[in-house]
Amino acid sequence: MCGIVGYIGHREAYPIVIKGLQRLEYRGYDSAGIALYDGTDIKLSKTKGKVSDLKERLENEISTHGTLGIGHTRWATHGVPNDVNSHPHYSNSGDLVIIHNGIIENYDALKKELIKRGYTFKSDTDTEVLVNLIEDVKKNENIKLGKAVQIALNQVIGAYAIAVFDKNKPNEIVVAKLGSPLAIGIGEDEFFIASDASPFIEFTKNAVYLEDEQMAIIRRGKDIKVRKIKGDSLVDPYVQELQLNLEQIEKGGYDHFMLKEIYEQPEAILDTFRGRLLSNEAVIKLAGVEDNMKKFLAAERIIVVACGTSWHAGLVSEYIFEDLARIPVEVEYASEFRYRNPVITEKDIVIAISQSGETADTLAAIKLAKSKGAFVFGVCNVVGSSIARETDAGAYTHAGPEIGVASTKAFTTQITVLTLIALRLARAKGAISSSEFRHHLIELETIPSKVKEALESDGYVQTIADIYKDAKNFLYLGRGYNFPVALEGALKLKEISYIHAEGYPAAEMKHGPIALIDEHMPVVVIATKKGHYEKVVSNIQEIKSRKGKIIGIVTKGDKSVKELADHVIEVPETIESLTPLLTTIPLQLLSYHIAVMLDKNVDQPRNLAKSVTVE
Ligand code: AGP
Ligand code: GLU
Repeated sequence: MCGIVGYIGHREAYPIVIKGLQRLEYRGYDSAGIALYDGTDIKLSKTKGKVSDLKERLENEISTHGTLGIGHTRWATHGVPNDVNSHPHYSNSGDLVIIHNGIIENYDALKKELIKRGYTFKSDTDTEVLVNLIEDVKKNENIKLGKAVQIALNQVIGAYAIAVFDKNKPNEIVVAKLGSPLAIGIGEDEFFIASDASPFIEFTKNAVYLEDEQMAIIRRGKDIKVRKIKGDSLVDPYVQELQLNLEQIEKGGYDHFMLKEIYEQPEAILDTFRGRLLSNEAVIKLAGVEDNMKKFLAAERIIVVACGTSWHAGLVSEYIFEDLARIPVEVEYASEFRYRNPVITEKDIVIAISQSGETADTLAAIKLAKSKGAFVFGVCNVVGSSIARETDAGAYTHAGPEIGVASTKAFTTQITVLTLIALRLARAKGAISSSEFRHHLIELETIPSKVKEALESDGYVQTIADIYKDAKNFLYLGRGYNFPVALEGALKLKEISYIHAEGYPAAEMKHGPIALIDEHMPVVVIATKKGHYEKVVSNIQEIKSRKGKIIGIVTKGDKSVKELADHVIEVPETIESLTPLLTTIPLQLLSYHIAVMLDKNVDQPRNLAKSVTVE
């Protein structure tokens, strides 16, 4: 999920690779490493921490000489960030060395098979499994590296951008891509490899962007060969002339990280259930839950602790856990929970939710819950973070680094993980039938493409943003599963555009906020087909009678709200419990566009920090 860089040509590789890694630092990472071929052997250095730490260590540790090199910044998915788990990884013989971004879903089964065949593993990574699988295929079939990579990748399920070379054939690097990005820069008798073009833009403007399920063999002094991983046919590489500047490349062509991250959600949600949701077999696999199933089944109550957007994801999970798994849930602000002498017993399970895994209040709440004997389960994005380490077990969201201060893909992936947990428990408790369970899994699998469809409202959302950007207040209303989405929509707007906004359960409006409504008040109402639709339509009538401006978030094809609202934004239909994953998309876009139109600092809003490590 983070960054890869490589070089093969006539120049010294080290300065290009290290600078390339520095260029990729914006992607966020926890470890870094480089392997160089110095003419006789592989020289490798890697470390947990920053690229500057790597540079210092590497220059003392190995000779930096050589015209072939690969480098990696890691965003851990399998195994905590430490020196051993950092990339590059050697194969058992020490002949092959690999860097990898992504997740190998079936690494466990492959690893067991390789162990049976005598392979040993130093790290906890899925990547070390892959390099040994390649070695195993290469040796057994006595074939070239390219062919071995291809055969191995056909056995792999998951996502990857890889670069691998063999010290006995130091004139070639083999690269492959599925899911994670990979660009190849083409110079004069030299090639560059990188996750995006930023590491090589100053050397060449000619680039080939590999497509999914393509691999390339890059040989010194030869043309690159691109072929399909499945089926083996050769592909004519399409060489593009790059037009973007460095900053544009970093943001993936988007104007801000926040927008990039909003658009990354289909992929991020997919990465979150990758290898965990097997709808064909009607199975959800979450090691942290399976290993502690007894505790989960015996739990009398779940207490969710979190802050900000993560707290909103927790509120959504309250509906999911109670509705599907029939377990009572309380959702608490970590900052309140820790100071109010809460009643916690050994029969409680505490779920702590945090993108960064470093939020001080959430961490303190976990410590308190543990001291009272509760079992604490973490839902974090950052692998190896303080919260991930402090909790008794957990499940990562695998959303990839989130750089924009306003949380977007962390929210939807948190909901995805919590849904998986709730469904797994619901089934284990027999609270839902096997056909209901299967139906949920099949629906969840369609969410990435439905999120993509929801993103198509972007143009229309911009039009709405333009109409209401000067409003002084906004009201967001939703019921049931979409009440927390209303809170989240309001938080997004406050955070980045500094417009006052309130989120409310739609029915609560008449107990107070209705007094605020006049012709100057835009009211965003989530009114999807499933979930108290008629009641929300009545709430919309009440707003209309008081001349409020109505922006409805509706299910595709809706008629009733369309007749009443000033604007409607459609999202695809899904089952009620999954609607938050779709209704949140236009709200993220609305806040984004309003903030841009008001010329605010979208990625770093005033007074806010990405991770709040003070209480
Ligand atoms: C969200 O947009 C915020 N910037 C903030 O509320 C955030 O969700 C909160 O600080 C919790 O952070 P965490 O998920 O890293 O614990
Ligand atoms: N899954 C690999 C690991 O955990 C690669 C992670 C990445 O993309 O950086 O080491």
